Amino acid sequence: MYPDRTLLAPNLSISRILTGLWQVADQERDRGSLETARAAEALSGYAQAGFDTFDMADHYGSAELIAGDMLSRWEGSPRPLAFTKWCPEPGPMTAEVVRAGVQERLDRLGVERVDLLQFHWWSFEHPAWLDALHEMTKLRDEGLIGEIGVTNFDAAHLDLALADGIPLVSNQVSFSLIDRRAAEHLAATCKKHDVKLLAYGTLCGGFLSDRWLGKPEPEAVKDWSGSKYLRFINAAGGWDVLQRILRAAGGIAHKHEVSISNVATRWVLEHAHVAGVIIGARLGENQHRDDNLNLFRFELDADDKAMLDRAFEAATPIPGDCGDEYREPPFLTASGDLSHHLEAMPSALEAVSDPENPDRARVFSGSLWEPIAGYCRAVRDGERIMVSGTTATHGVDRTVALGDSGAQTTYILDKIAASVRALGGDPKDILRTRMYLRGEEDIEAAARAHGLRFARTPPANTTFLVGNLIGDFRVEVEAEAVVSKTRQKPA
Ligand SMILES: NC(=O)c1ccc[n+]([C@@H]2O[C@H](COP(=O)([O-])OP(=O)(O)OC[C@H]3O[C@@H](n4cnc5c(N)ncnc54)[C@H](OP(=O)(O)O)[C@@H]3O)[C@@H](O)[C@H]2O)c1
Repeated sequence: MYPDRTLLAPNLSISRILTGLWQVADQERDRGSLETARAAEALSGYAQAGFDTFDMADHYGSAELIAGDMLSRWEGSPRPLAFTKWCPEPGPMTAEVVRAGVQERLDRLGVERVDLLQFHWWSFEHPAWLDALHEMTKLRDEGLIGEIGVTNFDAAHLDLALADGIPLVSNQVSFSLIDRRAAEHLAATCKKHDVKLLAYGTLCGGFLSDRWLGKPEPEAVKDWSGSKYLRFINAAGGWDVLQRILRAAGGIAHKHEVSISNVATRWVLEHAHVAGVIIGARLGENQHRDDNLNLFRFELDADDKAMLDRAFEAATPIPGDCGDEYREPPFLTASGDLSHHLEAMPSALEAVSDPENPDRARVFSGSLWEPIAGYCRAVRDGERIMVSGTTATHGVDRTVALGDSGAQTTYILDKIAASVRALGGDPKDILRTRMYLRGEEDIEAAARAHGLRFARTPPANTTFLVGNLIGDFRVEVEAEAVVSKTRQKPA
């Protein structure tokens, strides 16, 4: 028996259990690189058993090299699939930078085309992510990339990328009985654009398994995956909540004669917008292939799902949307912040202080009109920050997401957030917004995008001023912030 398969794109048939290789980086943490040929042999065992779709990233230790070695020895067709990720530091994403990032993946994997290249971006306030995805699209047309995906994109930015013409097929996100965010807004975005999710963390690093049922919370967790998901478990309400979920899953597992892990994974896999679940593998150590195959021998019924929902009622939903754990506190990552990945978060905007008034600073976005019409993107005076009417202009003169007021609003609110932050404030300090809309048909999508962004810290808002927009703009937004006392430092 092999894992079920599905089409992620018309010519891309994948195993519905993908084999995740982040664990390679963890295995190599203290003892150096795995022996490539031996690890490649272990990987080949997965591929031969039908677990032939591998998920990697540029920073997963030597995973890409191991997969490359395995592919170079593979006989037969089709060859196993090598999915990887490119997670560059925020900065200008020129054609050269993007090509170099993609070429490095090709070289490490030893292939002429990456089957699926998934893009990660640390801060949407830095708009170069759209340049990167457009450049990747050109490289896809050239044949260097098979399909393009993203990882850890929230619903709003997935929608924005698609509205701006990026041909994405998938978004890889955390999704489990503990972290149910992907069943919310992201489900609607996936449905709207027929895009699929690849789910990780479905076993919470192994915590969602028979091994932990009725066991006390471990005092220390050494592996990265375990420490990451312990943060998720704590954010969801702690060990008791996990135990409630394990007990419910245990009862269902008993009924279907499968394991708790099977129930946890099956619950994710049964969501319509999920193409596959990525299960982490520690090469040459534990192997759970036989047990994981049981996933395809049963289905959850309505009673099972209701029981799992009841167990989840005691949990605190993980805050925000998918991917927020990489972008804002509480950073539910392996290290609890981004120190494994970045030294600092570069900003696309810089504050310029006013030589005549030490209380005042400005940011300019470099638009053609700023010097002509005599304004700046935003100005800070004391603790007040005023952000000019902002449109979805990318670079000097390209309008993003033509015709889509919701996606344009998302883009604009990122620019506003970046302006406030460059001036020493925080987007949470925004106390008022005002939205100008092209027509009444733009109101709902723009209002929803605004609502998604400010779900936790809603400002006062003067919306629905319809008319008077020039060019291709469907929306223009102004904002006003007062820097919170806890953050008051000069910009
Ligand atoms: N895009 C991203 O930001 C991102 C983030 C995290 C992960 N990922 C991807 O997702 C993959 C999955 O990793 P993860 O960290 O999320 O871990 P996970 O898949 O939730 O957990 C993997 C662990 O679960 C245990 N396990 C697997 N099958 C089992 C079974 N049938 N019964 C009992 N235990 C079982 C194994 O633990 P033992 O080995 O200890 O037995 C395994 O190491 C990664 O390798 C990576 O490819 C992506």
